[in-house]
Amino acid sequence: MAYEFITTRTEGEKVGVITLNRPKQLNALSPALMVELGQALKAFDADEAIGCIVITGNEKAFAAGADIGAMATYTFADVYRDDYITRDWETIGGIRKPVIAAVSGFALGGGCELAMMCDFIIAADNAKFGQPEIKLGIIPGAGGTQRLPRAVGKAKAMDLVLTGRMMDAKEAEAAGLVSRVVPLDKLMDEALAAALMISGYGRMAVMAAKECVNKAFEGTLADGVMFERRLFHALFATADQKEGMDAFVNKRPAAFKNQ
Ligand code: HXC
Repeated sequence: MAYEFITTRTEGEKVGVITLNRPKQLNALSPALMVELGQALKAFDADEAIGCIVITGNEKAFAAGADIGAMATYTFADVYRDDYITRDWETIGGIRKPVIAAVSGFALGGGCELAMMCDFIIAADNAKFGQPEIKLGIIPGAGGTQRLPRAVGKAKAMDLVLTGRMMDAKEAEAAGLVSRVVPLDKLMDEALAAALMISGYGRMAVMAAKECVNKAFEGTLADGVMFERRLFHALFATADQKEGMDAFVNKRPAAFKNQ
């Protein structure tokens, strides 16, 4: 499919790579870009061959936020009536395969929120994260005030949301927002290696693992632990579990068939 504001490709026939592609606007997330991102995510999720998805930008920007030019003239009536942000932005939450954000440069406002909607973030050493909406007279609108405190705790989330300051990759890693920081020129190698590794595992175990970790952020600990246990039990009904354990016992590599 031909896109205007993103590009897509596959890596090793197993990983779907989506590159945000409005470089002149620092990948500002216009409504049209978000429609395309949703379409590409759904297409990779539906593609049997794909086991993991990577979203990335360019060296200067993952995404510098929602498109301020597009938003500037919106009225309350526009955004409330059309429920601005939810529909296309929520697509990512329904994707069942893991989605990795490979972030270099700015990840600000909606860009930081998009990265946080991914399952984990690998950052280049030049990455900068922030929720600068306060400077525009608004607040984060795509989950930033909720996901940031869950990732980094209240103190740092309040600091970032109230001051609008940026946090560099080192601070983001120490705070728990990103899973790894790598040199800029190694970012895609690292993200693709992780995605290929995940794609090589049994698909059902991968999806169950993602669902279970996400449960940790909803409901009670007891409910989450029970949800995990039941999916853990269910995986014993799969051929992949037999294959994975037989391979270990017989000291050979596992060949998962997603069955
Ligand atoms: C539209 C943007 C943009 C954005 C940058 N640009 N960010 N356009 N929306 N969010 C454009 C600039 O207007 C400029 O266009 C070009 O990209 C390059 O940007 P510069 O400012 O010249 O680059 P630089 O001096 O390097 O500064 C980089 C920057 C700055 C610090 C990232 O651009 C910046 O502060 N951007 C805004 C960041 C922000 O406030 N994000 C939150 C948006 S609100 P021209 O045509 O002049 O070359 C938001 C709400 C989310 O995200 C709500 C739910 C989704």
